[in-house]
Amino acid sequence: MKKQATNNTTLGNAYITSGSCYQKLAIDTAKIMNAPFLPVETKTFSNSERYVRFNESVRGKHIFIIQSLIATQGSSVNDYLMELILLIDAAKRSSASEITVIIPYFAYSRQDRKARGREPISSAILSQIIQQAGANRIVSVDLHSPQIQASFSGPFDHLVAESLICDALEKQMKSKNKMSYVVVSPDVGGSKTAETFANRLGIDVVVMTKKRDRNNPSKIVHSSSVPGIKDRVCIVIDDMIDTAGTLVSAINIMKKSGAKQILACTTHGIFSGEACERLKSSPIDKLFSTDTLPQNSIKEVMGNRFKLIPIAPLLGEALRRVASGESVSYIFHDNNYK
Ligand code: R5P
Repeated sequence: MKKQATNNTTLGNAYITSGSCYQKLAIDTAKIMNAPFLPVETKTFSNSERYVRFNESVRGKHIFIIQSLIATQGSSVNDYLMELILLIDAAKRSSASEITVIIPYFAYSRQDRKARGREPISSAILSQIIQQAGANRIVSVDLHSPQIQASFSGPFDHLVAESLICDALEKQMKSKNKMSYVVVSPDVGGSKTAETFANRLGIDVVVMTKKRDRNNPSKIVHSSSVPGIKDRVCIVIDDMIDTAGTLVSAINIMKKSGAKQILACTTHGIFSGEACERLKSSPIDKLFSTDTLPQNSIKEVMGNRFKLIPIAPLLGEALRRVASGESVSYIFHDNNYK
């Protein structure tokens, strides 16, 4: 992550806040930005409707609302989405001067086009709802597809975790012989990202093909072998791991094709459903994930086979730049829009 060329502009009116889902990330980010964290009162009514209220005045403030769209025990992605909408509305109606919404993991991003007749474009309507509620800007990390930005007509700052993940990988790559490593994309959709990682690490790349059963999306079929990986350390890159069906299916085929070791990396470790159990019993040697979503369960299950890559330093630096009117793309050497 590029840090130089900052100026000493103060953060002025910036306040960081968050709903109830993952406050730790917002508090860590606020500390890094050296900005105050604004507490919010949240509650759930008996019929499951949500309520929010800022505990202090936000009049004239630039409010940064950090809300990852996740599921936790007893609350769904949709509950936290509603909380986010209510927070934006509360900030707008309380005379905040500017509202920046940070959605580290942008839910519904996989439905980014009509793949069949009579379907919604979920990611587009999500952006539109956020805009309609009153957000002036969205910040997100490693969007599943960049065109999601088009559905929001204000500024959309796209952050990429590539540099953080590569730094963690380089510490793990002990051999000096680059030929002993290969980056593997578990599907064609991720090939561009895999190529970027391979170029940066100076190693080869292989792309696998994957099909999903339309009527049973958790059923995944990969090609039966992967050429060019025998006796090599495979670095599997995917933007998200949800049920881990894609990853574990790919890993099993890599192992059959002679992979010596498997390192898997993701930005968004969703780990829903049976993911933790699947990964625990898989032949994965090391799993790297950022914490755009909380990572407590997977950490517990995988022990030292799991490496957490904190995202707060990247969010903190990017939001500090947004608040003080500096370039965000500078952090990524202008390579954050691909
Ligand atoms: C697909 O396009 C994505 O990049 C991921 O490969 C996929 O969404 C992961 O989902 P799961 O872990 O449930 O297979």
